[in-house]
Amino acid sequence: MNDANHLLSWYKRHGRHLPWRNTRDPYRILVSEIMLQQTQVSRVLDFYRAWLKQFPNWKVLAEAKNAEVIRAWSGLGYNRRARMLRDIARTIITTNTRPKTAAEWLPLKGIGPYTANAIACFAFHEMVFPIDTNTRRVAGRLLLGRAFPTMKDDERIQKKASTWQKQSAQFYDIPQAMFDLANAACTKVPDCKTCPMRSTCKAAPKFLKGHVRIPKRTTPAPKERLYEGKRYPDRIYRGRIVKILHEQPKGISIKQVGTFIDKTFNKNLDIVWLKNMLQRLKKDDLISVEKDSIFLSKR
Ligand code: ADE
Repeated sequence: MNDANHLLSWYKRHGRHLPWRNTRDPYRILVSEIMLQQTQVSRVLDFYRAWLKQFPNWKVLAEAKNAEVIRAWSGLGYNRRARMLRDIARTIITTNTRPKTAAEWLPLKGIGPYTANAIACFAFHEMVFPIDTNTRRVAGRLLLGRAFPTMKDDERIQKKASTWQKQSAQFYDIPQAMFDLANAACTKVPDCKTCPMRSTCKAAPKFLKGHVRIPKRTTPAPKERLYEGKRYPDRIYRGRIVKILHEQPKGISIKQVGTFIDKTFNKNLDIVWLKNMLQRLKKDDLISVEKDSIFLSKR
């Protein structure tokens, strides 16, 4: 059995049964992939089911208002993704186009190379390989022997993995198998002894001999704005503002917002910080501002 089929036979026996793996509907696959970009599988499951109940297809989602999609997304974090997903649905419906290949998905706003490849591979069985932190780690180790692959390895990973995919008729399940292997054995500090791929993995001998130094960080620290004196990046406070507005359909005065989102809010020192965040939320179309109050965007 070749290496690709070896991995797939492990996946068949030990892979996770996840709802987005039973479909080739590009809509459902896109929803799952966008949700999975920021959140763990176990947490995504409930949101995914609820989302599909409320927005079962492109058309229903295209007609949804900001507030509706943000409410359904609320709890997943990165609210902007909800609106971006809805905007993709609007583009698809209004232009009456149905992208298939990765090259056709990529120009859509919010779709990066990973997502374009993921939909093309999982929904249309195009022979492309989606690289995220999980598949990078597994493919980078297995095929290139890099203990801690980084984005600099992506070009080589892409080439090797695409050639590797040619070994199997179920090539489109290889990334899925890698997500599961990344979770089961090929974790940051891998458990090579229990890994089904240890006999052919190019990095396993290094790990098994203890020749690998484990770096503190394997991915660059996210560039998040941390306002002086605040405990969390702005994204957390913006999320709190949106959450409060869900609970206050009649809006809330700007004066009150500061202390709602941060107990240590100082109305003299922190007002510029707050106004900057409100401006960003407005620009992203998540809130509207009227006189001295803010509301959840109704668009
Ligand atoms: N992470 C990103 N896509 C995934 C998928 N389809 N299954 C599990 N984890 C994932």
